[in-house]
Amino acid sequence: MYREDIVELFNNYVIGNYTRSKLSVVKAKGSWVWSEDGKMYLDFFPGWAVSGLGHCHPRVVKAIRSQVNKVIHVPNNYYNALQGKLAKSISLNSFNGKVFFCNSGAEANEAAFKLIRLFGSPRRYEIISMRDSFHGRTLACTAATGQDKLHLGIGPLPQGFKSVPFNDRQALVEAVTDKTAAVIIELIQGEGGIRVADRDYVTFLRDFCNQKNILLVFDEVQTGMGRTGQMFCYQNYGIEPDIMTLAKSLGGGVPIGAMVTQKKISGILVKGMHASTFGGSPFACAAGLAVFEAIKKERLLLNAQQMGDYLRGELLRLRSKYPAIKEVRGMGLMIGVELIVGAQKVADYCFSKKLLINCTQKKVLRIMPALTVKKQEIDQAMEILDTAIAKS
Ligand SMILES: Cc1ncc(COP(=O)(O)O)c(C=O)c1O
Repeated sequence: MYREDIVELFNNYVIGNYTRSKLSVVKAKGSWVWSEDGKMYLDFFPGWAVSGLGHCHPRVVKAIRSQVNKVIHVPNNYYNALQGKLAKSISLNSFNGKVFFCNSGAEANEAAFKLIRLFGSPRRYEIISMRDSFHGRTLACTAATGQDKLHLGIGPLPQGFKSVPFNDRQALVEAVTDKTAAVIIELIQGEGGIRVADRDYVTFLRDFCNQKNILLVFDEVQTGMGRTGQMFCYQNYGIEPDIMTLAKSLGGGVPIGAMVTQKKISGILVKGMHASTFGGSPFACAAGLAVFEAIKKERLLLNAQQMGDYLRGELLRLRSKYPAIKEVRGMGLMIGVELIVGAQKVADYCFSKKLLINCTQKKVLRIMPALTVKKQEIDQAMEILDTAIAKS
């Protein structure tokens, strides 16, 4: 539920660039959120993947509470130990690289684009992305995003970006020129409808980029931090990127973004070449460290794998029951259910029964519960979804 007076505040004072459901959240915990009138909603799309550990995870709450009593922000002309420690955690859990901190996914990708331009300078500047990708809302990230509808009316966009069909080797080979400096890809397209990169395509990408001395960037803003059952999605593929970008659940709800690069290219961002005033604050890094601690100590990767298998099994059961379900796809707890009918009305029905899920690309239900999700919560969600699809 929501209150008319709150909606009025928004109508009068908040720019209307979002479509908002009629829910005003006052409290949240784990997989649950509470509305103004005390009703509980089961959140299977917590914060668009921001609240990856579930809402207000106790370790994150404890860490940030304790940190605010010490120091909240330290500018980057000084050291703060927590930034160093979080960089070490990211590095040791990935490919031993180095980290630049910022505040969002778009900023992490911007940092990557700047590094790529410096890497290719002066001759190579082109960045190839995938059709239907999503990389954020700054102008350069919008240019990289392979969805024409998001480019309308805001041109001219920064030059040097082009997109090719996803999972299509030949298209990529044909798109590369002597100006190409990098390829950026989401290994599972989130906004694009939970489309998973083929294993042999990713292997090909790695080999091809090596051969051409092109940087390979994995945008793990949505797939990172355990979402797919591995700490980072690329670990499902057995190859490494040159650059990886992170945000969303890295801070357990606190804004933080990161660009991670292989050590051999990290020196390209020389002193003064890039910066972020808020980036890597002790407050945000304390949250990030708590997220890593929770994933390790609570064995949440295992839970993501097991609950992901269970959830996919239940969805496949629904598929055998309802011809309206065309396909169930994804990895771990990042799952898409493609329908042959409009998915928004299914998501709307779920909302009316107090289950929060997302609809993307018109026909795909995006289901991404918290890594802490319990079997009984999945059962509850499936009961609602079953009726929703029956009615579709
Ligand atoms: C894959 C991907 N990259 C980048 C972004 C942009 O992140 P932010 O909204 O934090 O700028 C998103 C956001 O949805 C995303 O899903």
